[in-house]
Amino acid sequence: MSEIQDRSIVVVGASGGLGAPLAALLATLGARLTLVGRDESRLRAVGVDGEVVAVDVRKSASAQAIVDAARRAYGGIDGIVNVAGAVAFGSVEDLSDEVLIDLFTLDTLAPIRLLRVALPSLRESAAAGRDPFVMHVSAIVAEQPMPGMAGYSAAKAALMAYDAAAARELRREGIRLIDARPPHTETGLATRPLAGQAPKMPQGLTPESVAQRLVDAIVSGEKDLASGAFG
Ligand SMILES: NC(=O)c1ccc[n+]([C@@H]2O[C@H](COP(=O)([O-])OP(=O)(O)OC[C@H]3O[C@@H](n4cnc5c(N)ncnc54)[C@H](OP(=O)(O)O)[C@@H]3O)[C@@H](O)[C@H]2O)c1
Repeated sequence: MSEIQDRSIVVVGASGGLGAPLAALLATLGARLTLVGRDESRLRAVGVDGEVVAVDVRKSASAQAIVDAARRAYGGIDGIVNVAGAVAFGSVEDLSDEVLIDLFTLDTLAPIRLLRVALPSLRESAAAGRDPFVMHVSAIVAEQPMPGMAGYSAAKAALMAYDAAAARELRREGIRLIDARPPHTETGLATRPLAGQAPKMPQGLTPESVAQRLVDAIVSGEKDLASGAFG
């Protein structure tokens, strides 16, 4: 079991369909939150107490800004949940370099960069016996790549592969890295693509149930959350 009460936890994408209910659940458990997204008013509208950091995580300086803000507010970082991201739709022919770079920067490189920059803080947390964790929300498409979503599938699969390798490195240091791969969830993500148009999709899971499952995994000490773990 992992303690959440009084832990300093960064939620990247806290204003999102998944991030908002997840931040609310963590707040209920007593976490001290740093809420990250591009838009300050959307972050405040979540209605959860916390330090608000409005940055674009595609920019490399954002990672240090997030870490500095959490350290200033709470003296350190005990956990990171990365639920910022976007999807792009389109055929192999249609997905432009510009869209692919944007997609990989947001969905793959940004969480990897933040983990690296936050590592000294996570090590301090481990040394203090505070069971630090990092959760990356990749997606079911990392396991089951989809036509018309080749770029998104690849960006998420790259993050999943990184997580599998990095988790083994970090375990030795007492830092738990969790890769979570939820199935389609009704957050409206598909209506905000970086490019293209969503195909017709079956009814997805509710954001509240997925957020609850993610928090349960953090609390219960799980190390990997495959798509099948969401019921
Ligand atoms: N919904 C699903 O079906 C589903 C399934 C599996 C995995 N996922 C993954 O779960 C994550 C969250 O998805 P969601 O459905 O909650 O999406 P969402 O409702 O669109 O939320 C995305 C969040 O990311 C933030 N964000 C987007 N671009 C950003 C940037 N450049 N810098 C900082 N923050 C940024 C958004 O805030 P701002 O726009 O204000 O910056 C928002 O808080 C994504 O990585 C997605 O791939 C979703």
